[in-house]
Amino acid sequence: MKSRLRALVTGASSGIGAVFAQRLAARGYDLVVTARRVDRLEALADTLRAAHGVEVAVVAADLEHPEGPATLLSALDADAREIDLLINNAGFGFQGDLVAMPPEKACAMIDLNIKALTLLTMHFAKVFADRGRGGIINVGSIQSFQPMPHYAVYGASKAYVLSLSNALAEELRPRGVTVLALCPGLTESEFHSALGRTTTAPGWMIQSAEDCVDACLEAYNANATTLVPRWNNKLTAQLHRVLPRRLVTRLMGSVIARSYRDL
Ligand SMILES: NC(=O)c1ccc[n+]([C@@H]2O[C@H](COP(=O)([O-])OP(=O)(O)OC[C@H]3O[C@@H](n4cnc5c(N)ncnc54)[C@H](OP(=O)(O)O)[C@@H]3O)[C@@H](O)[C@H]2O)c1
Repeated sequence: MKSRLRALVTGASSGIGAVFAQRLAARGYDLVVTARRVDRLEALADTLRAAHGVEVAVVAADLEHPEGPATLLSALDADAREIDLLINNAGFGFQGDLVAMPPEKACAMIDLNIKALTLLTMHFAKVFADRGRGGIINVGSIQSFQPMPHYAVYGASKAYVLSLSNALAEELRPRGVTVLALCPGLTESEFHSALGRTTTAPGWMIQSAEDCVDACLEAYNANATTLVPRWNNKLTAQLHRVLPRRLVTRLMGSVIARSYRDL
């Protein structure tokens, strides 16, 4: 009988995913960490093995690539050890007006934020349902709750993540599987700098990745199905309940237009 739980964390080479790996290792989870930057993953793995005595396997996979999810799943099959918790965290958001967006950027967001996430979710949903236990945390966004001008494809991809995750949570609830949609607002990471952008939002609006992940793991343990961490994000996520959709969309558009600049 295996002694420790094991989590698969996508996008573990930086930001929220790296913190998920750190926090889970500190709780005694063995890990599989994946992303494209293997040097980062290897350094993280060495640190976590030394600090917590857990097993950490590193798998390089480009999840935007058509073969990316299959490459990751076949590496796990070859390894032949069970996964108990899937964290679908890898994602990126290309900002800008849709008419100016290179089509390949829109497709890459769809391939990573939607397609790869769905394929991994479907794979482990079946494994966990058959086993009668397991968990999936899918990382959406505060942008999951309303249309996002100047971030239209990214926002729509995150609306998909929330909808998929909430529906699946209901399907899998009787089968002993927890599905949680984590919907963070602005969080410290490489999310913006990876695309040569930075946010001009005031510091108080930005959450640390550590606080975001700690709140998420607490919500996961409480079998929550959606978590919007932090009070300012919770308020934003409720706007669509009290204001007309068109007004909320306009408001979001004007906030986004003023909140970012090139590095
Ligand atoms: N930071 C925020 O303000 C914020 C707010 C709401 C939601 N989120 C969501 O949080 C999640 C984590 O983002 P983050 O903020 O931690 O940003 P980040 O620091 O840029 O991390 C993104 C992670 O995704 C991985 N990734 C990107 N493209 C990939 C690909 N093609 N294949 C495999 N892995 C890929 C990156 O690794 P490699 O580059 O090494 O592949 C990296 O580990 C994302 O889903 C994002 O949409 C972030």
